Amino acid sequence: MCGIVGYCGPRKAMPVLIQGLRQLEYRGYDSSGVAFLQGDSINVVKKQGKLVNLENALPSRAASTIGIAHTRWATHGGVSDENAHPHLSGNGKVAVVHNGIIDNFVDLRRELQDKGYEFKSETDSEVLAHLIDYYLDGTRGPEEAVSAALDRIEGTYGIIVLFKDDSELLIGARNGSPLIVGVGEKEMILASDATAFIGLSRQAIFLDDGEMAVISPREYRTVNRHQQEIQKPVEEVDIEAAEAMKGEYEHFLIKEIMEQPDAVSRAMGEGGRLLKDFGTAKLGGLNLEKRDFFDINRIHILAMGTGYYAGMVGAGMIENLARIPVQVFDASEYRVSNPIVQRDTLYLAISQSGETADTIMAVKEVQNKGGRVLGIVNVVGSTLARLTEGGVYTHAGPEKSVASTKAFTSQSTVLALMALLLGRMRDVPVRRGKELVDALLELPNKIHRTLGLRDRIRELAKKYKDYQSILYMARGNQYAIALEGALKLKEISYIHAEGFSSGGLKHGPLALISEDMPSVFIAMDGETLEKDINNIQEVRARKGPTLVVTDSDDPRLEDVSDDLLRIPKTDEVLSPILTVVPMQLFAYYVALELGREIDQPRNLAKSVTVE
Ligand code: M6R
Repeated sequence: MCGIVGYCGPRKAMPVLIQGLRQLEYRGYDSSGVAFLQGDSINVVKKQGKLVNLENALPSRAASTIGIAHTRWATHGGVSDENAHPHLSGNGKVAVVHNGIIDNFVDLRRELQDKGYEFKSETDSEVLAHLIDYYLDGTRGPEEAVSAALDRIEGTYGIIVLFKDDSELLIGARNGSPLIVGVGEKEMILASDATAFIGLSRQAIFLDDGEMAVISPREYRTVNRHQQEIQKPVEEVDIEAAEAMKGEYEHFLIKEIMEQPDAVSRAMGEGGRLLKDFGTAKLGGLNLEKRDFFDINRIHILAMGTGYYAGMVGAGMIENLARIPVQVFDASEYRVSNPIVQRDTLYLAISQSGETADTIMAVKEVQNKGGRVLGIVNVVGSTLARLTEGGVYTHAGPEKSVASTKAFTSQSTVLALMALLLGRMRDVPVRRGKELVDALLELPNKIHRTLGLRDRIRELAKKYKDYQSILYMARGNQYAIALEGALKLKEISYIHAEGFSSGGLKHGPLALISEDMPSVFIAMDGETLEKDINNIQEVRARKGPTLVVTDSDDPRLEDVSDDLLRIPKTDEVLSPILTVVPMQLFAYYVALELGREIDQPRNLAKSVTVE
């Protein structure tokens, strides 16, 4: 779950590599390192900790025009300088950066040690450097040696290899971990993600599993597993540099929270994905014929983390409007549950990054069993976007903070469009469809108004920041928001938080309530408000502090809550897209008050590319 980048061309490689790593740090930030050709040897500099540690350790004048770099999320071997990448072969001829996991590394390591290779790290990746070196035996060139080494590897990899004896050559290969070639004017770049090319190139070649790219400043070749040359399309990638910067904000997280009115609007195609007169939505990328829609008897949603909670929100919307049964699955569990894949089931994979290994493997499992999977993905050209048979891009723009926010609201918005489309094809009358279209079009403005609560939420954060644990409770279509709110808080503030259904409170969690255990309630206007007020009272009666988020004017809420946040009303079906906003702001300001590393919380990475 790491980021890799390699450059060859006329420029000094170091600034390009560091800029690339900065963009890829979301994939892991336990350590980083570079390898570059200097004179006739490969120099390696690597440091544990944030990228700035590496920058401080780099030689001030490194004129090299070729190099590779890595930012790590530790899997095998602790966080240390030795375990940082790149890894160098014993004789210094080969340097490798690797993203992925080598399942058979113990056997390979033993085999190489028996041949006299000495290992300097505890990583699985180091075997690659020695193995490639081993096959560079005089009878094979670099390409053949890499290929022979990869034939021995079981597991996943995106790798880039630098050779001491070839000052213009980089070789990249992929199997299960993304790798993209950026094609520039007499310069080439290889990276895990096209954001690493910002300012260099918009022309990209997306490698598929089993493919290798052989690059030098003026040319590239792509070859398959059998070393046969293959022609791959060069695609235009649309990366907005400005969107990937923090700008006026202190953290990416608050920038991304504040961007949600625009992100949600883009998820609706700025209105272009809505047909006002017909009270429905238009989602061309689904690649479904009209009759395919009628054949859908059930929907399975596959996702992880925040995407999973967006799936829960979407399930509620689809069941409400289209009356199609929807189940949401933790993709990592789905994959190992020998799922029953049926023709009349539509499979939806939700992912911001499009690189989440658990979701990718679940999708492959469905596809292997003949199922058809559509994606709701943010990153254009990502593995999931390419793997699925069709889908919808959320167009939330780059999300850099590990804690996912605008991806959630955009995913939920796309799911609302899907629910509307499916609903209108079934029982939803045009009048109700038009109501929903209007409500959707008003959402960005209502999110904007909800964001206006941030000063008040900051004050509340000061009050709640010192608790050891906080519970989140809601019911119905807000239940997913209780879970998402708890996830946000624990992820960035490290305060323990759990989400429960308000109805479940009396079935166990109530035992936790005391004056030291606050509860955040979402209590929305409507049929269940009465029950919510009872639940809040039950907590109050046991001295539990209560923070309530509502869209209701019911005066009783003032009496039962210690703190009350009123948000605008929207259509009930869409309301989770609004209630999540105070949850995000609360988590952000608590983490800020506690001085946490907000954008890069400990132990996590933005993109979980290993299972
Ligand atoms: O890129 P994805 O949407 O597939 O990521 C899934 C989860 O890893 C992600 O949502 C994670 O739970 C977030 N850090 C939550 O804020």
